[in-house]
Amino acid sequence: MKPVTTPPKTYRVKSFGCQMNVYDGERMAELLAEKGITEAPEGEDADLVVLNTCHIREKAAEKIYSDIGRLTKGKTQKKAPMIAVAGCVAQAEGEEIMKRAPAVSMVVGPQAYHRLPDMLDRAVEGKRSTDTDMPAIAKFDILPQRKKRFPTAFLTVQEGCDKFCTYCVVPYTRGAEISRPFADLLTEANRLIERGAKEITLLGQNVNAWSGEDLKGHTIGLDGLIRELAKLPEIKRIRYTTSHPNDFTKGLVASHGEVEKLMPYLHLPVQSGSDRVLKAMNRNHTAESYLRVLEDVRKARPDIAFSGDFIVGFPGETEAEFEETLALVDEVRYAQAYSFKYSPRPGTPAATMDDQIPKKVMDERLQRLQERLNRDQHAFNQASVGKTCEVLIERKGKFDGQWLGKSPWLQSVWFEGDADIGDLVTVDLVDGGPNSLRGQMREIATA
Ligand code: 5AD
Ligand code: SF4
Repeated sequence: MKPVTTPPKTYRVKSFGCQMNVYDGERMAELLAEKGITEAPEGEDADLVVLNTCHIREKAAEKIYSDIGRLTKGKTQKKAPMIAVAGCVAQAEGEEIMKRAPAVSMVVGPQAYHRLPDMLDRAVEGKRSTDTDMPAIAKFDILPQRKKRFPTAFLTVQEGCDKFCTYCVVPYTRGAEISRPFADLLTEANRLIERGAKEITLLGQNVNAWSGEDLKGHTIGLDGLIRELAKLPEIKRIRYTTSHPNDFTKGLVASHGEVEKLMPYLHLPVQSGSDRVLKAMNRNHTAESYLRVLEDVRKARPDIAFSGDFIVGFPGETEAEFEETLALVDEVRYAQAYSFKYSPRPGTPAATMDDQIPKKVMDERLQRLQERLNRDQHAFNQASVGKTCEVLIERKGKFDGQWLGKSPWLQSVWFEGDADIGDLVTVDLVDGGPNSLRGQMREIATA
């Protein structure tokens, strides 16, 4: 028998990757708090460390092993902690992690982390366990209520993906698309309001594929959900991410013009401006059909700001095809964007395609793309100068009396004045930098 380990008193959850993972990380922290384990103060050792991993790009698995090594060899903290590996790397490579890293006590996938407390009990008895089951949506029924007060909150409404883009691991790690039931979402939204939420961001890998039945039994889509949530008076702002261009219904487009609380910002990944590359990626849309969606949304909401995701160096991407991506960027003029070098993910079709692009070419293309995206982001911020808008304060700024919040267009805005976290403040935008804007406070719009 292995020795009994002392039950951990403190934890730290380290989340990598997307907002969905950040959400999962928060929920795991709450599960641990329910067991009486408290978050380790910054800079202090934790008895239990949860590595909440992301598998979408780069050498995620290798990074986990080096993180584990650093934790056990006293490099990250003085005392080696009990270790749990969660998230998408856990899902994809759980068995391997258990074999290669004896210091890991628990491996838990993104659909099974509600079982973490039981796994912890076993770990305390010296029993290691792996749980990478994918029970349909069960975890949401079991998770405890959230306690921390915060003006902005994520609400996972949909998980998984059926699209199978040829570069992407998500359909394998997060499983098939599932929508959480409307009534559950309403309950959770009300709980979020109780802990101070004024802005809710609806999360899903393919959030605009969400569908459900409203309380009268009518089938509704994401736009219906948005309209229902907008009826809650405490909710002042609604956002959603991430969408796929092919699931953009007329109703969703219209909601951008009709629901005032839906913020004028849309993150809609395109990945490439070349139709040949889009086809090889199995995106099932063209550059033109993507642009048409943006145009429709802009018609509904003329002040909308766009954001996107791009991949450079997909196998076979020629210089001319890459330039089609640059041309698309020039046409859209994104307010924000995320761009990545293609990273072969084991088990995905693109990983074994011919003509993988050399790293040097990818580096050079990424740099050229990012120059343009940065140019456009800065220009968008500068074009906002002179506008007056509402800013929702999220936290204190760097200096005394300074506040930091978000504009309707998701820009970071800082300003000084007599206000507090959670206030919606009317602000004149007076200066626009590459990553943030300076504002001058007029008044508190709502307390
Ligand atoms: N390589 C590079 N980027 C990727 N993404 C997803 N898979 C890969 C990959 N294998 C990017 C896409 C997606 C975002 C979340 O991550 O741009 O929209
Ligand atoms: Fe991945 Fe494509 Fe699904 Fe997005 S739509 S999660 S990129 S497979």
